[in-house]
Amino acid sequence: MVATEPERLVKSKQRVADHGEVFTPAWMVEDMLNLVKDESERIDSRFLEPACGSGNFLIPVLKRKLATVQGRYGNSDFEKKHYALLALMSIYGVELLPDNVADCRANMIEVFSSYLQLSSEDMFYKAAEYVLTNNIVNGDAMTMRNSVGDAIMFPEWGYLGRGKFQRRDFRFDTLAQRSAFGEEDTLFANLGKQELFTPSKTYPPLTVADLAL
Ligand SMILES: C[S@@+](CC[C@H](N)C(=O)[O-])C[C@H]1O[C@@H](n2cnc3c(N)ncnc32)[C@H](O)[C@@H]1O
Repeated sequence: MVATEPERLVKSKQRVADHGEVFTPAWMVEDMLNLVKDESERIDSRFLEPACGSGNFLIPVLKRKLATVQGRYGNSDFEKKHYALLALMSIYGVELLPDNVADCRANMIEVFSSYLQLSSEDMFYKAAEYVLTNNIVNGDAMTMRNSVGDAIMFPEWGYLGRGKFQRRDFRFDTLAQRSAFGEEDTLFANLGKQELFTPSKTYPPLTVADLAL
């Protein structure tokens, strides 16, 4: 019998006291994701973890999405790589502590590059690094500001097909207001739907090579 290392859920008592840093065990993450099983397996469903730590939720979400990519596009190298990138693009995080941000990005790219068997020189690897730099933000999810005090921005990515991606940037605080829209649209009646759904920036269609620069 092989003894397995116990999962490390705490880095230090001080960090628990200062930041409430206790990581969620893998079994509990799986149970929780199973409550939204279909969404967790859909390639382009968007997940945002506002206190993502080193990615205990985001990594299993990525793995589930990649399993779907494999089932659907495993026979086509081109589609497999682009849809795997789209899976990564749909996962977002905010995290206060820079070392956790670095761990989260590293853990995510490890899963992504292992799946596609990429070297760190590969264009898809570099594009994934770029996506993670934008999607996993070092900041405060309460104030919705990043580590230098600017409003947190998130890119909304979409796949247009034939190797082209769409990108539009939105402010996190605006996105958070969007979710408060009721069926009757009464809550922000005087703010205007237009304002909430207008991107801060829209990009021309982007290829993986554009993202890898
Ligand atoms: C309880 S841990 C959970 C980490 C991860 N979600 C998990 O389940 O394993 C909470 C994390 O939130 C971070 N954190 C605390 N306050 C935060 C804030 N205001 N904004 C963003 N992250 C925060 C901590 O640094 C820590 O990594």
